[in-house]
Amino acid sequence: MSLRDCRIIDLPKISEPRGNLTFIEGGVHIPFDIKRVYYLYDVPGGAERGAHGHRNLQQLIVAMSGSFDVVLDDGVSVNRFHMNRSYYGLYVSPMMWRDITNISSGAVIMVLASDFYTEDDYFRDYDEFLSAAKKVRHA
Ligand code: TYD
Repeated sequence: MSLRDCRIIDLPKISEPRGNLTFIEGGVHIPFDIKRVYYLYDVPGGAERGAHGHRNLQQLIVAMSGSFDVVLDDGVSVNRFHMNRSYYGLYVSPMMWRDITNISSGAVIMVLASDFYTEDDYFRDYDEFLSAAKKVRHA
């Protein structure tokens, strides 16, 4: 559950003259079964999303359209991923604080998640996240 576990996954892409097709199978192309899909769209210029962490949730973030940056922070290191292709997914492990910034106009951000929505899984407070991440590191 550190930044080293978070990575860009190269998704399958079927390219044909009539267009491209990408597919994602839970447990096959990504290391979890998909229980939920949500997407962010119509994001006003300058707005940022995220600014939270998850205790147990695993996620795959895909730029369905447009571009944005995902900033991941495991409490020790920070890494920025620029997302602008629909055939790349960013795997986000549990215990990661994440911000989504530089969201282009018209961007559609799709998130595949390993579990249903529950507010109990969120860290909304960065300091609370930092102390929990420290405990996990020293467990
Ligand atoms: P949130 O995860 O805080 O979005 P972001 O971090 O991108 O700003 O979610 C915003 C609101 O939407 C919050 O009130 C919770 C609600 N929500 C759901 O009801 N179900 C979901 O699957 C998600 C992701 C959010």
